[in-house]
Amino acid sequence: MSTPTARTGSRLHDFLALDGLPREDLTSLLDAAEAYVPIASGKSPGVDSLAGRIVANMFFEDSTRTRCSFTMAAKRLGGDTLEFAGSSSSLSKGETLGDTARNIEATGVDAIVVRAKPSGSAKLVAEAVACPVINAGDGRHEHPTQGLLDILTMRQRLGDLAGRRIAIVGDINASRVARSNLHGLTTLGAHVTLIGPPALAPSTFTQITDGPGTVHISNDLDEHIAGADVVMVLRVQFERGSGVSSDYHNLYGMTVERAARMKSGAIVMHPGPMNRGLEIDSAVADDPERSVILQQTTNGVAARMAVLSAVLAG
Ligand code: CP
Repeated sequence: MSTPTARTGSRLHDFLALDGLPREDLTSLLDAAEAYVPIASGKSPGVDSLAGRIVANMFFEDSTRTRCSFTMAAKRLGGDTLEFAGSSSSLSKGETLGDTARNIEATGVDAIVVRAKPSGSAKLVAEAVACPVINAGDGRHEHPTQGLLDILTMRQRLGDLAGRRIAIVGDINASRVARSNLHGLTTLGAHVTLIGPPALAPSTFTQITDGPGTVHISNDLDEHIAGADVVMVLRVQFERGSGVSSDYHNLYGMTVERAARMKSGAIVMHPGPMNRGLEIDSAVADDPERSVILQQTTNGVAARMAVLSAVLAG
């Protein structure tokens, strides 16, 4: 297990992964995020703790939720953002990711948020610059702020997650969201079952445990529906080469019939974007009782406020 988040002293310097993040640091970030929810949801006015600070959003892959919520988080904290689009950058002229990051830092930004296709790219950027770096998703590796917001959402609905049963369903193999959640959830003592067809849910994932929680693999969603406290549905990532058979919706889709078999109080999550009608039925995604999908997005602003505060305000 690595300890990739802290580079200096006790203050969080970078936020690159939930792998190796100690339980007390995870809990403290969750508590801070919870306290930011009223501001993130617009119910309380923003603060000025990041006044005069500029966060660079460096996105080399498309994003709706992560990018917008980092922008909102910085603004709710009184800071500003530099919006950098990889698609219109000098990367097309052969500039490296490290040189790009160093030049963005040289414009005077205080922190860099980076999303890029290669696994390990956030670490590469962190090694290239001196300012704090936050991983907004690097390939299949990790999406730690998504893990944080997902766990915050579960904690709001279920309380202590120790002993809770979390089913993560679908394209596990391509999912950085699954990897970050596994590290965070097992640190907090939850029991995670990864469910999907063998090609999308490989047995190597059982090694991703960081604490007292456990990880199991299953190819049968129906076996786990009634016992799950959370069913987290993952998108089939066709852009990363994932393929599914014609019976995928029938075998692994979060259908209305399956949602009806979930226990009282159990919730349905999805990190987005969704393939409606494939991994999840619209009636389940939009069910105000079970679905917490939009709550996840609001919590994403709060979680990113907590992370920006940790790396910039101490
Ligand atoms: N969940 C997530 O990362 O969504 P975006 O790709 O829209 O940022």
